[in-house]
Amino acid sequence: MAKDPVRVLVTGAAGQIGYALVPMIARGVMLGADQPVILHMLDIPPAAEALNGVKMELVDAAFPLLKGVVATTDAVEACTGVNVAVMVGGFPRKEGMERKDVMSKNVSIYKSQASALEKHAAPNCKVLVVANPANTNALILKEFAPSIPEKNITCLTRLDHNRALGQISERLSVQVSDVKNVIIWGNHSSSQYPDVNHATVATPAGDKPVRELVADDAWLNSEFISTVQQRGAAIIKARKLSSALSAASSACDHIRDWVLGTPEGTFVSMGVYSDGSYNVPAGLIYSFPVTCKNGEWSIVQGLPIDEFSRKKLDLTAEELSEEKALAYSCLT
Ligand SMILES: NC(=O)c1ccc[n+]([C@@H]2O[C@H](COP(=O)([O-])OP(=O)(O)OC[C@H]3O[C@@H](n4cnc5c(N)ncnc54)[C@H](O)[C@@H]3O)[C@@H](O)[C@H]2O)c1
Repeated sequence: MAKDPVRVLVTGAAGQIGYALVPMIARGVMLGADQPVILHMLDIPPAAEALNGVKMELVDAAFPLLKGVVATTDAVEACTGVNVAVMVGGFPRKEGMERKDVMSKNVSIYKSQASALEKHAAPNCKVLVVANPANTNALILKEFAPSIPEKNITCLTRLDHNRALGQISERLSVQVSDVKNVIIWGNHSSSQYPDVNHATVATPAGDKPVRELVADDAWLNSEFISTVQQRGAAIIKARKLSSALSAASSACDHIRDWVLGTPEGTFVSMGVYSDGSYNVPAGLIYSFPVTCKNGEWSIVQGLPIDEFSRKKLDLTAEELSEEKALAYSCLT
């Protein structure tokens, strides 16, 4: 019997990530090839015409799984009945703007969209925040949607995770699908810590540690880390636009694994509400290694953290605490 459609909200759907993301969702990349979907697309009034153009293209693409499209500039209409919400819309930093001004714009967007979701989304709606500052936008959304369980509010660091897998695969000339269990700790910013200490590569002789195969700690502890941290900037330099197809694809990976589960023995990185695991301050949205089962994530516990890593985990937590304070100062 055919499954009931799942309603998926994409905010900022007329933007460049939105344009890459909605066809992936409509093709089953996010929720599975047998899962019908109804897309809810939200953008702001100046983008209404472009949003309607995206809707026209979705109709023209005749996706068999796509059972309906809502394209609107009304947050309440967009949020009504949604089971999954991918929050891509936000206010970008423009030349000459202070950090606080950008934060203040995003705080007000996430505050009002949090209440629209809280009041109108389906029960147990899963939320993924993509728009930057992703961790702090997710935290504001959590604060202003108190009836949405905190475990349902996450932010995207899977793109950074996938970038780390990609760098290891290139360095070792192995298939990216054979590399697993890298970790992104902390903020989706250049303070993040891409960690390969628990990562492995599948070889004909079994799984081998990445550190052993790379056999170059100097590279792993410096260039590898900064390449992953700075990859977003490198894409902007090359494309004159920020990453879009990889962000969209990673957003699909994030939701797919959350809903359908991670493979046995594999963990992925998700920005989630910290419970104090690994001595990360509770009350931040921080990227951890997680496994997912039955639609719920749990933080992988008990991984040994060496001194080098400890400093990096703390540094990115400090940045998130500062962002949190800045965001709260915008509320008063
Ligand atoms: N977490 C990640 O890994 C990651 C990766 C890449 C980009 N990003 C972030 O994702 C966001 C989107 O990137 P993009 O390249 O698609 O940007 P974009 O400027 O092309 O699109 C953003 C869209 O959001 C819309 N928007 C603005 N305010 C809105 C609101 N209040 N409600 C609904 N829509 C609104 C804009 O009109 C625009 O159509 C940016 O904040 C970017 O920094 C995050």
